[in-house]
Amino acid sequence: MSNERLIVVVANKSIEAQDIASFELVSGDGGELPEFTAGAHIDVHLGDGLIRQYSLCNDPRERHRYRLGVLREAQSRGGSVAMHERVNAGDRISISTPRNTFHLDERASHSILLAGGIGVTPMIAMAYRLAALGASFELHYCTRSRARTAFHDLLTSAPFADRVQLHFDDGPKDQLLDAPALLRSPGAGTSLYVCGPKGMMDYVLGQVGGWPEGRVHREYFSADPQAGHDHDGSFRVRIASTGAEYEIPANKTIVDALAGHGVDIPVSCEQGICGTCLTGVLEGQPDHRDAFLSDDEHAANTQMTPCCSRAKSALIVLDL
Ligand code: FES
Repeated sequence: MSNERLIVVVANKSIEAQDIASFELVSGDGGELPEFTAGAHIDVHLGDGLIRQYSLCNDPRERHRYRLGVLREAQSRGGSVAMHERVNAGDRISISTPRNTFHLDERASHSILLAGGIGVTPMIAMAYRLAALGASFELHYCTRSRARTAFHDLLTSAPFADRVQLHFDDGPKDQLLDAPALLRSPGAGTSLYVCGPKGMMDYVLGQVGGWPEGRVHREYFSADPQAGHDHDGSFRVRIASTGAEYEIPANKTIVDALAGHGVDIPVSCEQGICGTCLTGVLEGQPDHRDAFLSDDEHAANTQMTPCCSRAKSALIVLDL
């Protein structure tokens, strides 16, 4: 995982839809940017320790720019508001090099890209890539309304426009996404990609019981805003390399509590989305709160995201 930082220039900022802005970032020296693969994201460093991840939504063949779409979120912890209000064309900003935790299986016989709202951004890059490969795919893009549909013109005029279906929540019934019908019987070699708000993801993922786990790929773009911490308890963490044990109080994350003892775990999103803090678990049972690991990885209990996850057992031993 690369933590290399780049300074880029905001070449363009446009309003794409209600509450959604796009940003085009170019190299500060006019040169090429590091290449990226479909599904990749970058960290944007917004100052005061604020770091947010945004998917790249342009054609991965492009080396002259990165394009992002950012939803201004009502429940924002500051990142999306900062992007909308403080970042403007002409600004120089610090970003990470691209990394990809939402890989495209280019060998699939067919790919279904299912996007909700701003979750369309990685899907656009995937659609460009699949179209360039001449691969079979379909992109379904669900939004609340036409006014909230970012990249509408791009998607309806792209070389792959015939593979795109738009679904507006406030539109006629016959254009709504029929997820049960679409997902009922997966063809052999079909891959599914889902990215959107948690409610939409839960609904869609509830329809894929018959799919092989490795064929369903998901990426959350925000943590579960409903996740409460009212009933969190304390537990202990042992650091495997030193044997030191520390109490993790109910009101602190593992990352924050360990930092108070000089044990630093690198973090980025601090919401269980990006995987930056992923840590091996040698003993004990994690209480997984992240959206980064798959269900199988959660069940294996061999790694966890200490930025948000906790422990069900009284002691957990981390491979640090
Ligand atoms: S910092 Fe992103 S998952 Fe923990």
